[in-house]
Amino acid sequence: MRPEGPRALALRILLEVERGGRAQFLLDRALDRLSWPERDKAYVTHLVYGVLRHLRFLDHLLEPHLRRPEGLPPPVRWVLRLGAWEWLSGKPDHARVSPWVEETKRVSARLAGLVNAVLRRLHPREAPECVRLSLPDWLCQAWQGFFGQVAFAEGFNEPAPLFVTAYRPVAGLPPGPVPDSYLWEGGKTDFSALGLQPQNPASLFAAQLLEPGPGDKVLDLCGGAGLKAFYLAAKGAEVVSYDRNPKRQAAGMRTAEKLGLRVAYRTQDLTEPLSEKAQKVLLDAPCTGTGTFRGHPELRYRLAPQDPGRMAGLQLKLLETAAQATEEGGVLVYSVCTLTEEEGEGVARAFLARHPEFAPEPIPCPPCPLPVLKAGLGVYVAPEGGLDGFYYLRLRKVNSRA
Ligand SMILES: C[S@@+](CC[C@H](N)C(=O)[O-])C[C@H]1O[C@@H](n2cnc3c(N)ncnc32)[C@H](O)[C@@H]1O
Repeated sequence: MRPEGPRALALRILLEVERGGRAQFLLDRALDRLSWPERDKAYVTHLVYGVLRHLRFLDHLLEPHLRRPEGLPPPVRWVLRLGAWEWLSGKPDHARVSPWVEETKRVSARLAGLVNAVLRRLHPREAPECVRLSLPDWLCQAWQGFFGQVAFAEGFNEPAPLFVTAYRPVAGLPPGPVPDSYLWEGGKTDFSALGLQPQNPASLFAAQLLEPGPGDKVLDLCGGAGLKAFYLAAKGAEVVSYDRNPKRQAAGMRTAEKLGLRVAYRTQDLTEPLSEKAQKVLLDAPCTGTGTFRGHPELRYRLAPQDPGRMAGLQLKLLETAAQATEEGGVLVYSVCTLTEEEGEGVARAFLARHPEFAPEPIPCPPCPLPVLKAGLGVYVAPEGGLDGFYYLRLRKVNSRA
């Protein structure tokens, strides 16, 4: 049997994504095991991410050439999308069509002729903006209504640079858009040994909004493996990181140890009240993740219109816990890696209506190191230049409830 090449591997991964897998995880797992040249590995990533990021538009390009695409065997449908993606990325016909015809012969020989004909006939085609951006209509329309535009979503379809956060001074790395964030242009490495961790600057910025320093006690709520906790600890704060997932916390503990940072981990369901308080509290809540479509391209097709509202219900419960755990005069930062109205401003409005003892504080945007998408009650940042889209709200507990 012919050994699997980059195209066949991309096809296999896309079929697994269709069955519910996560592209990032599947790619990492498959590529880590291979001793292929970096160029071939990068090509698999280009194919998988490209097809998923542009899926709706690729189907739109293929539509005039297929009578019933949903009736095709799944591998052939993905072959057509892969071939259309290579066409869209400018690969010439001679380097593009026959490799996909060969792949089709492997999976469904009788359809090789169809694949050949369709891939040769592709031509540019006008598309409505939501289709061109490969967004589901419900989300695209909600964004057009809330932000007055959806062009920012173009950013989700660009390649993702790798940013790292530095916990000690580093030299020779190009700086990212926020302090202590850098661009990593090399391959994968043991980041902890270098005092670094991969982290999007928009995620780091949430921790920076607490202005952590020596002598502070910070509660890191929904801290997961502790990426934000590492930064807070590196700035000299005493950090207690809470999450309900002990596996993530165990991974965090190992990384903290390698980084030489002290973080206390406590496992708890945070819809239940906490038994401690602090002057600084961070709630990096679970969310629909619509700001992370660049790195998780399949997510946009899995979300349902009711998901933002459902998540907002959980976020409000978690904010209740966070509010109780904030000492008088203290600061509470709420952040989510999503751009929906419900999980951002909607949560903020509902929370403040119930909590007159909290007042929103300005977020230094502008001047802001990050591109602002919408500022008012909290700030939404745009997924530009490799950033994830985020929402931040900074609150001060001004007086205890009467
Ligand atoms: C956005 S992620 C946190 C990422 C983390 N703060 C970081 O910077 O790496 C959300 C986290 O919320 C946790 N979570 C979800 N529901 C929870 C609950 N009811 N109580 C506690 N943690 C919860 C999840 O386990 C997940 O780790």
